[in-house]
Parts: sequence; C-alpha cells; structure tokens
Amino acid sequence: MCGIVGYIGKKRAVDIILKGLSHLEYRGYDSAGVALVSTDAAHIYKASGKLNNLKEIICLENKENISATAGIGHTRWATHGLPTETNAHPHTCNCGSLIIVHNGIIENYKDLKPELEKKGCNFKSQTDTEVAAHLIAHEFEEKKDLLKAVQSAVKKLKGAYAFSIMHKSCPEKIIAARKNAPLIIGIGDGENFIASDIPAIIEYTKKAIYVSDNQVAEVKADSVKIYDENGNLIENKIENLPFEPIALSKMGYKHFMLKEIHEQPDVVRNALVDKIKDENAAIILDDVKLSKEKLAKINRIQIIACGTSLHAGLVGKYVIEELTKIPVDVEASSEYIYRNTIADENTLVIGISQSGETADTITAIKQAKEKNSHILIITNRKDSAMARMADSLLPINAGIEVSVAATKSYMAQLLNIYCFAIYLAEHTKNPDVKAISDIKKELLTLPSKLEIILNDTKNIQNISKKYSNSKDFIFIARGINYPSALEGALKLKEISYINATGYPAGELKHGPIAMLDETMPVLAILNKGVVYDKVLSNCEEAKARQAKLIGVTNFIDEKHKNLFDDAVIIPEISDIVSPALNIVVLQLLAYHIAEYLGKDVDQPRNLAKSVTVE
Ligand code: M6R
Repeated sequence: MCGIVGYIGKKRAVDIILKGLSHLEYRGYDSAGVALVSTDAAHIYKASGKLNNLKEIICLENKENISATAGIGHTRWATHGLPTETNAHPHTCNCGSLIIVHNGIIENYKDLKPELEKKGCNFKSQTDTEVAAHLIAHEFEEKKDLLKAVQSAVKKLKGAYAFSIMHKSCPEKIIAARKNAPLIIGIGDGENFIASDIPAIIEYTKKAIYVSDNQVAEVKADSVKIYDENGNLIENKIENLPFEPIALSKMGYKHFMLKEIHEQPDVVRNALVDKIKDENAAIILDDVKLSKEKLAKINRIQIIACGTSLHAGLVGKYVIEELTKIPVDVEASSEYIYRNTIADENTLVIGISQSGETADTITAIKQAKEKNSHILIITNRKDSAMARMADSLLPINAGIEVSVAATKSYMAQLLNIYCFAIYLAEHTKNPDVKAISDIKKELLTLPSKLEIILNDTKNIQNISKKYSNSKDFIFIARGINYPSALEGALKLKEISYINATGYPAGELKHGPIAMLDETMPVLAILNKGVVYDKVLSNCEEAKARQAKLIGVTNFIDEKHKNLFDDAVIIPEISDIVSPALNIVVLQLLAYHIAEYLGKDVDQPRNLAKSVTVE
C-alpha cells in the first residue's frame, strides 16, 4: 500500500505531486507528505490524516519555498508506527540532505538499525523506511553519487520497496527503485514523473515505463536511465497507458462507490460482448491459453484470493462444480501459503484479484507455480505483478475502481468466472448442453435486470435508513448465495463499521441464533430454487426469536408476505446467476447505511485499496 509520486521538469512540482497523490489516496490515507527540492534547498511538509490536511499546510506557505520544479510525495497506510506527522514520509538522514519516500516494508530494518545507530544515525520515527534513508545517506557519503549509493544500499535490504529518492546536492535527479511493489515512470516532454500507479500521472502523459523488480532508475527532466540489478544500463519498453482521465471523475454521483455500483450493467455488457454471442454459440475466451490436452488433464481446481475476490471465488466453486463436476477448493490466500498445499501439474490454480497486487495472493501464486500448476489470473489490472505471473490471463476490464469498497470489480469477476466455467464445461467430454445454454441465456438478461434495480432504489434507501442505527447485522443464505451473504456483510462492515456477519442459513441454529432478539436485523437472501424453502424455514426460526427480518428475494407468496418486516423484490433470475443480481441490493444497502451515518464511504478508516503487505 502507500502511494508515491515524483516530478521533475519545468512546472511547479507541488501542484503535480499533490494532484497525483489525491489520485493515489486509495492506496492509503492516514498521513501524507512532500519534499520540494531546488538548488541547495529542500522543503519538507508533512501532516497526519487526509491529504487535505497537507494541502492546508502548504497553502499557508511562502510562495518561494514551494516554487521548486522537482520533488517527491507520499500518501501513507501505516505499517510500522502510528499515523503521526513524524512517521509520515518523506524521511531523511540526520542532516536532512537525503530525502526518501517508500511504499513497501523493509523486513530487515531491525537488523540494520543498531549498526546505523552506532555510526551516529539519529532515528526520529518508528518507521522501517528511515533505516533506508540513513543507509543510502551513508553510501552517498562514500560514493558521492546518488545512483551508485542507491544501487549499493538496495542490495542490503530485504522485503518490498518502491522508492523515490532525492539529495539536496543534486536536485536535477530523482532515483527510483523497485522490488515487489509497483512503480512506473511517466515520460513527458522535458519533464518526467514517478508514480505507484497510473491515475497519478494520466492527466500529464499517456506514456510510461514499468520498472521491474530489482531495477534502479535515474530520472532527470530530459532523460530516464534504467539499470538492472548488476548495474547494467538497460532499455525498458515505453508503453501506452490504458486509462482515460474521465475514469477519475464522480460524474455527478456523491461518491465513487455509488457511481461504480451504477456502472455495473455496463460492466456486465462489457464482460459478455466478445464472449457470448447468443445462448447457442460456443463461448470465446481468447485469453485462456489452456491446450485441449491440458484441459483434459485438469482434475482439480484451487481458487485463491482475498476479501471480496475470495467471495467471487466461492461463487465460482458452485458454478464450476455444477457445470464441470471438477472439484474446486477455495481458500483465502493468506491460509493457502506457508503450508504444504496439494497441487501438481494437473491442478489449475486460479488467482483472483482486483488490483493484481495483493501480497497474500502473489505469495500463494508463487507457491503454486513451484508445483507446476497452470496459473490463471483473473484481474482488473493487466499490467499488475500478478498478471505477469500468469500462464493464462483473464482481464475483467471493469475500468478503474476508485472506491476502496469493491463493487463493480466483484461484478466483473463474477461474470468472468461464469464465462470461464462455461468454457471449461464446453471442453469436457460430455458437456451438459442444456445447462450451458440456459446459463448463457440468463447472463445475457442480466444488464436489463440490474437496471431495473438501479433505476428505483427508494425502497432500499428507506430500509437503509430504518436499520442504520443497528449495532449488529446478520446475513443469511444457502447454496450459491452463501457467498453473497458474506460479501453483503463485508460491504456493510467496511464502510459503516457496523458489525455484520454472513452465515449459511442452516448454521444459524447451531449457535448464532443465541444473539437474536428484537434489536438484531437478519437479512435473508432467498432465491426461488432448490434451497428456497429451507431458507424460508430458517427465516421462521429467526422471526420466532423476534429478530427483524429483511428479505431479498425474487419470489414471495401470499402466505409468507407478513414474515418479513421489510423486503426487496428483485427480478426473476435463475438460481445459478442470482448472486450477480442479489449483490447489487446488498451493495446499495451498505452504501446508504454508511451514507446516513455520515461515514467516509470511499475511504473507510484503516483500509487501503491494494493490500501489498502480508
Ligand atoms: O485487489 P484484491 O482483489 O486482491 O483485494 C482483495 C481485498 O483486499 C479486497 O477485496 C478488499 O476486501 C476490499 N476492500 C473489499 O471491498
């Protein structure tokens, strides 16, 4: 996590850096800072809290102090030390000449620190980053060259880093370095940029170099030189950046989350357009590089992911097993790693990640790769570290998702998982042609059904208001919608801070029912299908304990109308595709509750969009 931005050119660096940081706040937003460097002067500004606090401090500054045309900035998600001003980046050496911003974790900082203290380094913060500042400063004293100092220092560091580093004595250059943390260099005309991610620089340039692990770059206003880990000058390709600046606008919505929820019908259309022409045509999945022979040998599938992506994976288990009869295990990446997982060359390992940067999933994929399993990555970021590890890549193309709470990316993950399941099913020996064509038909109806829900959200808003003061919430469902219950609860927790838990409805009576009374809302997802009656019975059990019942359903008959205190009726949909429809109701409910409570919907406390630490 954490976002870094660097600029060197002809314009006032502070404006570009602050704007860039505002587009990287999704990576962390507990404190921020900038360093503005000109000939023999470096001005550093830091503030705890949101970027706006930093902007206010800078606004009061003397114009001359902020006129530099080079500088580096940082927005932080704390890993080592509280989110205070002292712990905010940039960090410096004793005399303040060497200035650094960092994304990642220096794992051996405790081993390096005593030695540096002995040499007279005075540590002001509790961060791991400050060790890197002192270490590079010492190398600089010896080598008198910033590039060489960084090249030598990074060899002593363990862990993950994306650095931008400046020195007062050479304001004409920024040194950038990367290992296991994203870093790009934007190429301009007489100016260059450094950033953790594309949104920070897309307004200024559409051309960039992706820095790879163990590379170090020397960035000047009119040149960029990249060196490999042995210090050899190399040439990285200049690539065209994929985003349009428009993606970063709220387009009239109050929050990015609401805008992204409303984008979902188009996300679905986009996911299906080149893949499913009609229910009778074979699915087209050009990105999947599994040969017929390889496909025939797959006897086990493992899905690894975290958070919302994990819930998409759980839906995937139901769909893939239903259509292909291949056994699927789904596991949180952080649990998959550091144990002897059973996988081999006939195992297909699917990593799902919006960001493609999640450290737990990256480590899990590395582990699976060692067992020669075929790695399929389903991600929103084709340019991510995870995408580069893939044997097959299924880009979900949801567009940039700014809100920390994932919504449209979940939808796009679901749709791509459905498509992949169909693809696998069509390649089995005896495909169930009817089941495959039914699911395709249903998927094609999804956009208009989503629009029906999104075009009239009044009822959901009223329900949200009614229950917004609840302290706890329970979500129940069975079968393929059990993951929907988990995802609905996660959304509510993340943005409203209400304690919410998702249970398989049948589990309620095995313990959680003890918590039920008239203060506890229970939201039940009931889709007309195999488990409908069973969930109804579980709702009766909850009602008998005076819980407040909210139903999300596509069917209620006369005799059950009074069972629910409140209900959201969704359009008719088959059981297997219903998670993609139900989730929108739960996203809207979480959104409106958080909004009524006045929470920071797009940037909830303690979270970050990409979780790049284990
Ligand atoms: O980028 P990823 O999909 O790998 O991220 C996984 C989780 O960190 C993420 O889904 C998280 O749970 C979101 N905040 C959910 O809204």
